[in-house]
Amino acid sequence: MNGDSSMSADVVRHLNDTQEDALADLFDFLRIPSVSADSAFRADMQRCARFVAESMQRAGLTTEIVPTPGHPIVLGERCEDPQLPTVLIYGHYDVQPPDPLDEWTSAPFDPVIRDEKIYARGATDDKGQLYTHLRSLQAWMTVAGKLPVNVRFLVEGEEEVGSDHLDRFLEEHRDRLQADVAVISDTSQYGDGIPAITYGLRGIVAAEVHLRGPSQDLHSGIYGGSIANPATALARLCGGLLDADGRVRIPGFYDDVLPVSDAERAAFAELPFSEAEFLKETGCQDVWGEAGWSTLERRWIRPTCDINGMVSGYTGEGPKTIIPAWARAKITCRLVPGQQPDRILDALEQFLKDRCPPGLTLTFTRYHGCPAFVLDPTGPWVTAACRAVEEAFGTPPVFIREGGSIPVVMSFRQILDVDTLLLGWGRNSDNLHSPDEHLHVVDFHRGTTASALLWERLRLTADSAS
Ligand code: BES
Ligand code: ZN
Repeated sequence: MNGDSSMSADVVRHLNDTQEDALADLFDFLRIPSVSADSAFRADMQRCARFVAESMQRAGLTTEIVPTPGHPIVLGERCEDPQLPTVLIYGHYDVQPPDPLDEWTSAPFDPVIRDEKIYARGATDDKGQLYTHLRSLQAWMTVAGKLPVNVRFLVEGEEEVGSDHLDRFLEEHRDRLQADVAVISDTSQYGDGIPAITYGLRGIVAAEVHLRGPSQDLHSGIYGGSIANPATALARLCGGLLDADGRVRIPGFYDDVLPVSDAERAAFAELPFSEAEFLKETGCQDVWGEAGWSTLERRWIRPTCDINGMVSGYTGEGPKTIIPAWARAKITCRLVPGQQPDRILDALEQFLKDRCPPGLTLTFTRYHGCPAFVLDPTGPWVTAACRAVEEAFGTPPVFIREGGSIPVVMSFRQILDVDTLLLGWGRNSDNLHSPDEHLHVVDFHRGTTASALLWERLRLTADSAS
């Protein structure tokens, strides 16, 4: 049964005819400063949740805004016909803090188009990408009056801070969230104009370490050398996390890492990769990482440990001779399949405590964690996604893993028993989490088209299986 293929052509035509409207609506979404990490933006988070719910309603979905102890979750659903496949779409409406503000060319919450790119915090991560699905469903409703699949749509506001309240929500609403397959657009293309299906993500654990020394800052001439300096001690502790070859020195860190097949490593080596382009993207002079692994492998299949920030002592203008009273660092480890978040956090805490010099008090705070994800990249849903992406981008997608983390993906598998198609329309060079975040206008439109075609392809897949 292929009766609706002309219908999907009509939907794509409608999307092409209404591109300006789509951009105007996306801009309204981007104007809401939905920064989940900062409690000053709590009211904006509520406003943003309402914006998402209204967009879903325009796509014919019934919606509910569900409060959590953190930020609300927006749920939408439309059951078109119990015979049709059911797709669970996920996105996040929260964004990273826009800091450092003075490094933005234009204000982060005042979206503008420059050089055919949409500039705003959240343009690619994830509002712009999430919006492609909202838009494509709206287009199906406008043109066809119905959707090709049943849809459950879950949009959360805490992805950037670790999705702390999501698992509980999934457990409580397990029945309402049953689906044949999940779809998330929160990853990237492999390269400019090279779309990707991402079949693996790294996991993550996050923690903070606080070293407390003297009861207040002290004169470093009077006391220096006779008591431990928290800043120096923290630098030594953090510096000791990696050896000179880039290997993590936490005992047991690699114990549970599952091997990666030679065939998979060979497939990575086949992907076009330009180190020069990569260096340009990062602004670094050279690459660096664990000895014995390529840059793609270091990013996709090797675990790491990174300091995300350190503060201590005097950082203002000119010198100041003190021993600071305290020092703090934020640390994350990226995990690969086999590694368990809790075990890694235990080992990290022990590593730091074992090396803390006498006279200092070490406090270790645990934040979020999620394990790594790998999907078998064969099967009918993946094939359907490939077709939709190829049709929209004019070139078939490559199969890749990614180094970033999306906690919900493992939760979907573990709690709902549903696997996820990770289809990213943006680019890693879009400055996600950085100043001047953007999304290429062409990627937004191609993503919207791919999304519209995907629903039809998933329906056809289910048809041919029955
Ligand atoms: N969209 C990113 C994850 C991503 C980006 C995956 C690019 C692959 C390619 C997501 O919003 C994100 O940044 N996640 C956080 C999760 C963390 C806070 C638990 C991350 O990876 O740091
Ligand atoms: Zn994201």
